[in-house]
Amino acid sequence: MRTRPLKVALLGCGVVGSEVARIMTTHADDLAARIGAPVELAGVAVRRPSRVREGIDPGLVTTDATALVKRGDIDVVVEVIGGIEPARSLITTAFEHGASVVSANKALLAQDGAALHAAAVEHGRDLYYEAAVAGAIPLIRPLRESLAGDKVNRVLGIVNGTTNFILDKMDSTGAGYQEALDEATALGYAEADPTADVEGFDAAAKAAILAGIAFHTRVRLDDVYREGMTEVTAADFRSAKEMGCTIKLLAICERSKDGASVTARVHPAMIPLSHPLASVRGAYNAVFVESDAAGQLMFYGPGAGGSPTASAVLGDLVAVCRNRLNGATGPGESAYADLTVSPMGEVVTRYHISLDVADKPGVLAQVATVFAEHGVSIDTVRQQGKDGEASLVVVTHRASDASLSGTVEALRNLDTVRGVASIMRVEGE
Ligand SMILES: NC(=O)c1ccc[n+]([C@@H]2O[C@H](COP(=O)([O-])OP(=O)(O)OC[C@H]3O[C@@H](n4cnc5c(N)ncnc54)[C@H](OP(=O)(O)O)[C@@H]3O)[C@@H](O)[C@H]2O)c1
Repeated sequence: MRTRPLKVALLGCGVVGSEVARIMTTHADDLAARIGAPVELAGVAVRRPSRVREGIDPGLVTTDATALVKRGDIDVVVEVIGGIEPARSLITTAFEHGASVVSANKALLAQDGAALHAAAVEHGRDLYYEAAVAGAIPLIRPLRESLAGDKVNRVLGIVNGTTNFILDKMDSTGAGYQEALDEATALGYAEADPTADVEGFDAAAKAAILAGIAFHTRVRLDDVYREGMTEVTAADFRSAKEMGCTIKLLAICERSKDGASVTARVHPAMIPLSHPLASVRGAYNAVFVESDAAGQLMFYGPGAGGSPTASAVLGDLVAVCRNRLNGATGPGESAYADLTVSPMGEVVTRYHISLDVADKPGVLAQVATVFAEHGVSIDTVRQQGKDGEASLVVVTHRASDASLSGTVEALRNLDTVRGVASIMRVEGE
């Protein structure tokens, strides 16, 4: 074993960074044996240097992250600050000064992954980011390496623990969205500003990263259709139950049948209780991968949290250190397929539509005609009348999102339709 240590600069020492530092210290001997050289924490960049950080030598702490990555003797920079800047500049500077990079930063990778990969290649260094998607769950490496000989057609998953916790609460207790969110906040599952989670931004960033790797093409954050889960109601859950379904916020990346294009989307959807994703409870994540040769694979586990996320960071650190000792680099970006990313209108799926209608003869026929005129075939209809008003629940066969949107617009123009109470996609069948 080499005795000269590999030097690691840790950028950020918060929820994830503090756990990375702890594991580097407590597992030092095992890590050295697995890598073939010891790894040494050479510096820790933070924003508030006076904060007490258990297990961290105060002499290593600095607020000058740029100077740390420019030192020239750093082998690996671990970026766990988050956000776009200064993380982006720090990673680029790290490559320029000879370091490889491990990051957990989904927002940055989804926005600037291509440029960061190009910078890594230009300087002959590694860029690894297993922790950026689904915390501890090995997903990037299985897609990037284990499935590199197969053809992935679909990635479908729950990639945000906060929203899964909220939806699971609504499902199991009958609570409304706000009540479930309040509980998630009180228990530390939701941040004070939960927008990134509940509006689907976090999941959309992960979908962009997953789709790009799975289909060997570039998928930008803007290419991902995004709908949050703030509009999901207790009534939606009651409807879902009547259909033998539950509701999950799903990230869905699909290759078209002809293989020429892909789609990526994040939105709440009903899934049958028999689907394995339906039983993913609490803040857990799970991702289904469907490929030509392997068939269906499911990856399941804790999608966030300091220690689980640090596990993924450490796995990358070991891989990058091994590459470094071998004078090699691991797989870089694979975007050769250069596929078109189709708009949401071209996505084909089933829909559950709940309408408030007048309770009088002929309404059902009128509504059915609108569906037929837009080429959307109805699977089931359920009507419930009360005091001259009725609710009509229509479940369709597979139709394009554009056809469904046209149908809903036309339904809203019918005198007998008082309102469209909810529209929910039905997935996983
Ligand atoms: N938390 C999770 O469960 C989780 C899961 C998966 C991925 N991630 C990703 O991991 C990354 C880190 O998340 P986190 O939860 O650990 O965040 P966090 O707890 O907020 O920690 C951020 C750290 O970065 C430091 N920092 C902020 N601005 C800085 C600057 N300009 N220069 C130097 N240091 C700076 C902070 O310093 P102070 O300590 O002085 O404030 C803090 O130590 C993010 O990209 C996140 O998306 C997190």
